[in-house]
Amino acid sequence: DEDPRVNGIKTKIRVVPDFPKPGIMFQDITTLLLDPKAFKDTVDLFVERYKGRNISVVAGIEARGFIFGPPIALAIGAKFVPLRKPKKLPGEVISEEYTLEYGSDCLEMHVGAVDKGECALVVDDLIATGGTLCAAMNLLERAGAEVVECACLIELPELKASHLLPYHGYPLLGRDRLHGKPLYVLVEYL
Ligand code: PRP
Repeated sequence: DEDPRVNGIKTKIRVVPDFPKPGIMFQDITTLLLDPKAFKDTVDLFVERYKGRNISVVAGIEARGFIFGPPIALAIGAKFVPLRKPKKLPGEVISEEYTLEYGSDCLEMHVGAVDKGECALVVDDLIATGGTLCAAMNLLERAGAEVVECACLIELPELKASHLLPYHGYPLLGRDRLHGKPLYVLVEYL
């Protein structure tokens, strides 16, 4: 029942062990971008899922959500809203902090980028702990948008069990951290 294009996409994602730190299996999507067919298939699969669903906002998360979000937004006739790391956006912003393995990071969105009642899709390349997507969702909802779904290329579910002991302050990990919001992924690593 899996779309035959998904396997082609999977084979183009390069896994780099011990990057950026020992023990991390880095999922590198730059190799997928080098293959125009696999890159287009990726965008098409999302577009087929989201066109005609009244989505007027595609919010992309820095940095790799900026690669996949805009072509999806253009194809479904939605605006693109960048959710950026701190101090990058020049206008007035709202911010959401989220927890990392050690310390915290923050996402920001321009005030006025989204209108109340708009339907939004959040796009990123990968979900690990879910902290980043959770912060993105909170930003959109604080601005009055309704988040229809989060969309990622890759989900790393094994993180729940393995090296996430440092996250013990956060019992909810991965998609369980999204408050029941639907998450759609193309490639799941078990
Ligand atoms: C990666 C990835 C997601 C986030 C997922 O970004 O692209 O945005 O981590 O992790 P989480 O589910 O545990 O929150 P990264 O932090 O490497 O930032 P970058 O894209 O700016 O390099």
